[in-house]
Amino acid sequence: MKHIFIKNDTTHPTLVLFHGTGGDEYDLVSIANAIDDKASILSLRGAVNENGLNRFFKRIKPGVFDEEDLKKRTLDIIAFLKEHIKTYNLDETNIIALGYSNGANIISSILMHEPSLFSGALLHHPMVPYKHMEVPPLHKKNIFMAAGENDPICDKDDPIKLELLFKEAGARVTLKWYYQGHQLTELEVRDAKVWYDAHSN
Ligand code: MLT
Repeated sequence: MKHIFIKNDTTHPTLVLFHGTGGDEYDLVSIANAIDDKASILSLRGAVNENGLNRFFKRIKPGVFDEEDLKKRTLDIIAFLKEHIKTYNLDETNIIALGYSNGANIISSILMHEPSLFSGALLHHPMVPYKHMEVPPLHKKNIFMAAGENDPICDKDDPIKLELLFKEAGARVTLKWYYQGHQLTELEVRDAKVWYDAHSN
């Protein structure tokens, strides 16, 4: 998978970044730096091309996911991450995922398939990735979620359902609401940093 790796202070977490639809591996680097400018960064480019737009998995139509492809891509990314944790000699106990929209949704799917990969996650404008899927135990996982009261793409019920799913699996979830549609706003990033400083080592 196309990606970038920026090595930094190894006593800080590694932030693994997943962009939104139409983005690339550089999109979230400035946000990652705003949250922790000492964290190493591993940022992936989605391998699906939807009419020229990078994505991490296919969709049938906006908001309706190709769940078979989502599972396939999730397993591909899990294999990629396991390989590159070794390649880049990362502390596998201190990896936090950060994703926006499509990127947030692939992170949720990874947590549901291989929870041990991430010690925590920051999900900006996430949706529920699968209509019916058991969530494995997520004890001690810290998850920050930012959702839009007036998000035209993510139904308001989705972040609430996702929060419940993760909490029922034992995760500690912080869900915050914003009023800027589907945008990833500066306020969200400021709140994400406050959460990160309180929940990362
Ligand atoms: C998108 O347009 O990216 C949707 O909001 C989320 C997704 O398709 O994963």
